[in-house]
Amino acid sequence: MTQDFMRNFIGAASLAALIGAPSLTGDVRAASLAVAETLFGKTPGGEAVQLFRLENVRGMQVNIITYGGAVQSIKVPDKNGHVADVALGFDNLDGYLYGDAYFGALIGRYANRIANGKFALEGKSYTLPINNPPNSLHGGTDGFDKQIWAGSKIQAPNAVGVELTHFSPNGQMGYPGDLTVTVRYTLDNDNDLRIDYSAVTDQSTVVNLTNHTYFNLAGAGNGAILDQIAMINADRITRVNSTLIPTGSTMDVIGTDLDLTTPTAIGAHIHADNQQLKFAEPKEGGYDFNYVLNNPGDLSALAARVTDPQSGRAVEVYTDQPGLQFYTSNFLNDVHGKDGRIYPHWGAFALEAQHFPDSPNQPGFPSTELKPGEKYHQTTIYRFLPTTFVK
Ligand code: GAL
Repeated sequence: MTQDFMRNFIGAASLAALIGAPSLTGDVRAASLAVAETLFGKTPGGEAVQLFRLENVRGMQVNIITYGGAVQSIKVPDKNGHVADVALGFDNLDGYLYGDAYFGALIGRYANRIANGKFALEGKSYTLPINNPPNSLHGGTDGFDKQIWAGSKIQAPNAVGVELTHFSPNGQMGYPGDLTVTVRYTLDNDNDLRIDYSAVTDQSTVVNLTNHTYFNLAGAGNGAILDQIAMINADRITRVNSTLIPTGSTMDVIGTDLDLTTPTAIGAHIHADNQQLKFAEPKEGGYDFNYVLNNPGDLSALAARVTDPQSGRAVEVYTDQPGLQFYTSNFLNDVHGKDGRIYPHWGAFALEAQHFPDSPNQPGFPSTELKPGEKYHQTTIYRFLPTTFVK
């Protein structure tokens, strides 16, 4: 069934009621778009962390916590109306406080790696924490994923959500400039989970924000994702060295083990004797590449789609970013997650829309500089299928 057909099939809740929409099983039901706020937990220092629950009429339910601005769960019906949580995460705050996998988190100030934790801007050199030797990863040891964001509900006519804000002072984690960041997560009745990021600075700096949700469309903790089918609309990746830093050149993937331009099972080539796959995961192989999107800046173009043939669930990505980091959780090793479930190696994939890794040191890459008076923007939409279920 095509997406258009599905959309036309169920135009509105009232129509669905008339024709008798299939019913949902599981604990997710909302009569209309709704957003609710509750306490998720308290830090050892006594600071409150809030949880915002977003619900739509198609049985989707998304939880966002103010710690790390993380997506804590995404519940989606499958083709039979059975609801499962497709995002890896933890039931309580401790998992987030002491975890290092970035489950669902907002990543900043700079997503992915900066070589040797160093860059220069307008003649000045900056040094960042080396938390992934020899490089700096995801904004350093105390990045945006470890901050408590201020949250408030969004109740718009066609969407509900949460607006998160965070102030990062000049010099935090080595980055210049006072940076004020706003992230808006919204959910609508077309199963679009939309993330709008913006930031302003008072000094020239670099910014590259993303979200690090780990998806398993069969349900988080339901085995490996090797049978799920990935399509990424990108003919090239930025080639990496053994520390996953771009060499500066791009590599044509068409016809190679990294080619996902046609829908391909994630496990089909993961073990291949390919130097890039081995750099990403030396023992068994894995994907951990910045795919150079074929339609950079075009939020209406399909950037990627991953489908789970068994459940019929799929996630599509639309973004205005030039790159998409496709990561097959190569560093995951039996993490104890929600509902007593274990998240194994290759137990999830991430689709991180962003600028290219190490751009501050790569003059040939699109710039990630932000100057005073300018506004950083990025928008990424995760669209969940099927959309056939309506309460
Ligand atoms: C990804 C990155 C991986 C790994 C992971 C966190 O964004 O591409 O190399 O660092 O985050 O474990």
